[in-house]
Amino acid sequence: MKNVMIYGAGAIGSFVGYLLSDVAGDTLIENVALLGRRSHIQKILKAGLRIDLPEGHKCLRFRHCFSSPDELRRSNFFPDIVIVCVKTYSLQRVLDEIMASGALNGNLKNSDFMLLMNGMGNKEVFKLTSHNVFEGITSIGVNFPEDGSIELKGRGKTVFEDGIGPEIKHFMGEMFEEKGFEIEFAKDFKNHQWNKLFVNSVINPITALTRKHNGIVLSKYLEDTIENIVEECVSVAAKEGCVANKDIVLDLVHSIASKTSMNTSSMLQDVQRGRMTEIDSINGHVIRLARKHGIKVPANETLYALVKSMEDTTFQL
Ligand SMILES: NC(=O)c1ccc[n+]([C@@H]2O[C@H](COP(=O)([O-])OP(=O)(O)OC[C@H]3O[C@@H](n4cnc5c(N)ncnc54)[C@H](OP(=O)(O)O)[C@@H]3O)[C@@H](O)[C@H]2O)c1
Repeated sequence: MKNVMIYGAGAIGSFVGYLLSDVAGDTLIENVALLGRRSHIQKILKAGLRIDLPEGHKCLRFRHCFSSPDELRRSNFFPDIVIVCVKTYSLQRVLDEIMASGALNGNLKNSDFMLLMNGMGNKEVFKLTSHNVFEGITSIGVNFPEDGSIELKGRGKTVFEDGIGPEIKHFMGEMFEEKGFEIEFAKDFKNHQWNKLFVNSVINPITALTRKHNGIVLSKYLEDTIENIVEECVSVAAKEGCVANKDIVLDLVHSIASKTSMNTSSMLQDVQRGRMTEIDSINGHVIRLARKHGIKVPANETLYALVKSMEDTTFQL
C-alpha cells in the first residue's frame, strides 16, 4: 500500500483519491489524503466525500484532509506520491505554495509528483529539480456540483508516462483495476498527450466560443476551420518529434465530438462560470512551439485571441 496525496481535490482529484484509496467497509481511509479548497475539505470532514456513480452513491471518509501545505506539514502524513490535479492556470501557485511551506524537506521529502492535468507544458511550469515529476492524462469525466460531492460522468483510460517506479506502478495498477478503471504507463506518453491536445485544441475553444455542446464541431460550416486548426497542430507536433497523420487526427476529433456530442466541454464550463480557461496550455502551447520553430499557426492564434478576450474582465459591458 502506498500513501497518496491529492493536491487540488476538485472533480478529477477527488475521484482519483477514491480510485487509489484502500476502501474497506465504512472504515476511515488512511492511505489517501485530500488537499483542496477549505469549503470542500470542511464538507468532507463533516459529512464525508459523496461520490455519485451509475450504480449508486458512496460516501468516503478520509483521516487526512488539508487545505494548505502548512496543514500537511503539521500532520503525520508522509505521501509516497503527490498527484496534482488543479487547472493548468493554478499550477504555478501550487508550486510556489509547496516551495514556501518547507514541506519539500519534511512531509514531501520522499514524494514523487504526478501532474494529472490537461494541456501541455505543465512540467516546464512545475520545475522541481529536487523531486521526480511525471505527467498523466485522463479521459475519465467527473463533475463537481457542490462542495463535498462529485459525480462520475464518463469512464475512460488514464495514461501516465513510463519511468515511474515499479512499486508505484504496481500499486496504482492494482487500485485502478480493483475499482474497474483502466490505467496505462506508456513509453510513448508524448504521443498520447499530443493526441489529447489535438482534440482539445479543436473542441474546447470552438464550444467555448459558440457556447454549444461538443456536437457543434460536426457542423459542415466548421469543416475548413477545423482542418486548418488540426493541420497547424500536426505540423507543430512533427517539429517536436510526434509524427501524426492529419486525416487520422481529423477522424479522431470527429469521432470524439460525435461520441460526446451532448457534453459540455471543460472550457465552455469555465466560460459559463466566468472563470479562467486552460487555453494557455492548449492552443497557447501550440502557438509558443510554433514561434519556436518559425511556423505560422493563424487558426490557433485566432481561437486563442478570442478565448483570451472572453477571459478579459476589463471589458465587461
Ligand atoms: N473534470 C474532468 O472531467 C476532467 C477530465 C479530464 C481532465 N481534466 C483535467 O484535470 C485537471 C483538473 O480538472 P478538474 O475538473 O478536476 O478541476 P477542478 O474541479 O477545478 O479541481 C481543482 C481543484 O483544485 C483547487 N485548487 C486550485 N489551486 C489550489 C491550491 N493552491 N490549493 C488548494 N486547492 C487548489 C481548485 O479550487 P478553485 O476552483 O478555487 O481554484 C479546485 O477545487 C484540469 O487540467 C482538467 O482539464 C478534468
